[in-house]
Amino acid sequence: MKFFVDTAEVDEIAELNDLGMVDGVTTNPSLIMKSGRDILEVTKEIAEMVDGPVSAEVVATEADQMIAEGRKLAKIADNIAVKVPLTWDGLKACNVLTNEGNMVNVTLCFSANQALLAAKAGATFISPFIGRLDDINLDGMELIADIRQIYDNYGYETQILAASIRTVNHAYQSAMVGSDVMTAPPKVIKAMAQHVLTDKGLAAFLADWEKTGQNIL
Ligand code: G3P
Repeated sequence: MKFFVDTAEVDEIAELNDLGMVDGVTTNPSLIMKSGRDILEVTKEIAEMVDGPVSAEVVATEADQMIAEGRKLAKIADNIAVKVPLTWDGLKACNVLTNEGNMVNVTLCFSANQALLAAKAGATFISPFIGRLDDINLDGMELIADIRQIYDNYGYETQILAASIRTVNHAYQSAMVGSDVMTAPPKVIKAMAQHVLTDKGLAAFLADWEKTGQNIL
């Protein structure tokens, strides 16, 4: 499974990138706002740092304007994936931008039918939002599994990008149901390394080692 980092904080991306954990980055208008950076500048910086796709989101709501914004964002670097919302206008923009040779990430997906339309519009990535479905007491993971089945039934190549990942359990479940990619905040990716038995086991090993009086170096 590919790991995208869901942030516009350059330092956090750099730390994970140095570990070889970053297959791409996703941003959105809220994350750009939180970073306090200019969208064109920060996106360029991120795209130079990582090899994989870097999603940059349009903010227009009408197809022609989305296409114009998408073309501008795509010019930032070869690895930009233009992010468009899953509206009818967004699907139109997806189709045009895809046919022009751009990667397109269709975001704010909350149903299997929306995901089917995105695949038909030629999306490179579809972003179902797990956490926000859980927020309203629906099962985000069922949606990922449904999209997986539909895409496999018909051989769609659109990649499922599990988004709005809030917990390590979301990450685990996304992998179990065959999501192609997950995008998660750096703190969730780091938390995946934690286990209480690892900490307990390490403490016991170190206590015993102390008793040997030995040093390795
Ligand atoms: O990947 C989309 C993500 O940024 C949304 O996450 O936690 O705001 O629902 P969240």
